[in-house]
Amino acid sequence: LAILVSQISLSSTQNVNVVIQGATSISETDDNFVCATLDWWPTEKCNYNQCPWGKAGLLNLDLKKKGLINAIKAFNPLRIKVGGSLQDQVVYGVGRVKNRPNFMKNEDSLFGFFQGCLPKERWDELNKIFNQTGVKVTFGLNALLGRNRSQIEKGLWVGDWKSQNARDFMKYTISKGYKVDSYEFGNQLSGAGMGASVEAEQYGKDIVVLKNLVKELHPDPKTQPKVLGPSGYYDEKWFNSFLEVSGHDVVDGVTHHIYNLGPGDDPNMITKIQDPSYLNQVAQTYKALHGGAKDLSPTFADGFWYLDQLGMASTYNHKVFCRQTLIGGNYALLNTTTSIPNPDYYGALLWHRLMGSTVLAVTQESNPNLRVYAHCAKKKPGISIIFINLSKDSSFNVTLSNYERQSRNSRSTDVAKPEFRGSKDREEYHLAALAGNIQGQIVLLNDVPMDPTETFDIPTMEPKLVNASTPISIAAHSIVYVTIRDFQAPACA
Ligand SMILES: *[C@@H]1O[C@H](CO)[C@@H](O)[C@H](O)[C@H]1NC(C)=O
Ligand SMILES: *[C@@H]1O[C@H](CO)[C@@H](O)[C@H](O)[C@H]1NC(C)=O
Ligand SMILES: *[C@@H]1O[C@H](CO)[C@@H](O)[C@H](O)[C@H]1NC(C)=O
Ligand SMILES: *[C@@H]1O[C@H](CO)[C@@H](O)[C@H](O)[C@H]1NC(C)=O
Ligand SMILES: *[C@@H]1O[C@H](CO)[C@@H](O)[C@H](O)[C@H]1NC(C)=O
Ligand SMILES: *[C@@H]1O[C@H](CO)[C@@H](O)[C@H](O)[C@H]1NC(C)=O
Repeated sequence: LAILVSQISLSSTQNVNVVIQGATSISETDDNFVCATLDWWPTEKCNYNQCPWGKAGLLNLDLKKKGLINAIKAFNPLRIKVGGSLQDQVVYGVGRVKNRPNFMKNEDSLFGFFQGCLPKERWDELNKIFNQTGVKVTFGLNALLGRNRSQIEKGLWVGDWKSQNARDFMKYTISKGYKVDSYEFGNQLSGAGMGASVEAEQYGKDIVVLKNLVKELHPDPKTQPKVLGPSGYYDEKWFNSFLEVSGHDVVDGVTHHIYNLGPGDDPNMITKIQDPSYLNQVAQTYKALHGGAKDLSPTFADGFWYLDQLGMASTYNHKVFCRQTLIGGNYALLNTTTSIPNPDYYGALLWHRLMGSTVLAVTQESNPNLRVYAHCAKKKPGISIIFINLSKDSSFNVTLSNYERQSRNSRSTDVAKPEFRGSKDREEYHLAALAGNIQGQIVLLNDVPMDPTETFDIPTMEPKLVNASTPISIAAHSIVYVTIRDFQAPACA
């Protein structure tokens, strides 16, 4: 009996108080914070004894797939970054550049493939789907064009960037009326680079050339694409010199990669992403490694990592978070062959619909297994909160408090208010794994499996309305979004 009793008490519900500082915002994201990438990899790209790209690369993806179109449309709009490792070997089939064979296998070339070409016909097709689904496009430009490998230092590329092909590409894009939200300069060439690197001073000089080109061809500041870079792992010294050399008003957004899941074949990954101290360590360094979690990414469990990353990145004032990838590779939001959404897709879509751009501070000291992030609601009024319960054997009853800034004798202090008691029903979205199998690929929303219908429509994702007099209940191993319309947060007014 004693053993039985202690087991019951182990899996009992814990009460947790979450304090939200509704008075001030701690950071702001872009309105389209959730972003996903499309990459160049050819079918022949293989690693970990798999060839995970299939026909999901930019040059061979079937753009007429209903599933793909509907998955993008549901975001209305989705931000997509076009780019990846091979982008610095892609030329554009415009101006004097003739179409040529794509990505021939070649051991001596960067990443094992020799040069690719984006024919203008393919750029037309891509823009057709971007236009039809309302995508905001970030286009990753080839930043190695015109440079040569250094004779002295392995991996280093030297010489000035040649901008002519980019100029012809932009001219063509403008002539067709295609919209590009931003141009990103190069991929993974900063710091030590991945395969290839460019010195910070050289890169800084070249991004000024790119900025001037963008300004010259898009004189209207309202429609002028932004210039982003360097899109590599964060290296403080390199980033600082790069920004010093490029100077003010050149780089509109600094972009960096993170790959904190380590190489994709780590058998302990399932344990790591449920460990709050591992997730926190990532927050502190927020630094990148490389790889992909091949068996994990299409599963429910990946949401423990991915949605937590969205939370941390927004807290640390990042404007956009691009998931590698939308489709293709080992860690896509959509299944590469069927284009059916993986669980993370639904988590991302809810984030996009519910979490506004203003980020609020949240504290919760009862249990490290409960991760919490709060933003102003995307659609006013109120706030939206995401709870991620990493624990597999305890659930939580959550109550909320609001902090209020009070001015007294010309000093302002944050004063904790008693428990918040709403009067309007809460809107709740409970995500859980089918049959509790977090390594499975089926996610339940409020107990209903998210299956795209036969017509590949994304299911409607309606909240459950819950009486405000009950605490928010977060089941074990679940992810819950809650929107509270009558939570008075001055920062959201
Ligand atoms: C799609 O293209 C049409 C015609 O060029 C344009 O008017 C419209 O604004 C575009 N839509 C989007 C979402 O880019
Ligand atoms: C790169 O190599 C090509 C061919 O050898 C040469 O014509 C060109 O001048 C070199 N460019 C630089 C920047 O060194
Ligand atoms: C994609 O879906 C197919 C068919 O359901 C499945 O066999 C395959 O494992 C899925 N791929 C991934 C990477 O999950
Ligand atoms: C998380 O799940 C565990 C396991 O059921 C549960 O005991 C705990 O109370 C949950 N946490 C929250 C905040 O609901
Ligand atoms: C919520 O529950 C309380 C207490 O049970 C009840 O008095 C109240 O009428 C309920 N509110 C709504 C909107 O159903
Ligand atoms: C948690 O909330 C439920 C539903 O309101 C309630 O029945 C239960 O007693 C609560 N548990 C604790 C430990 O307070």
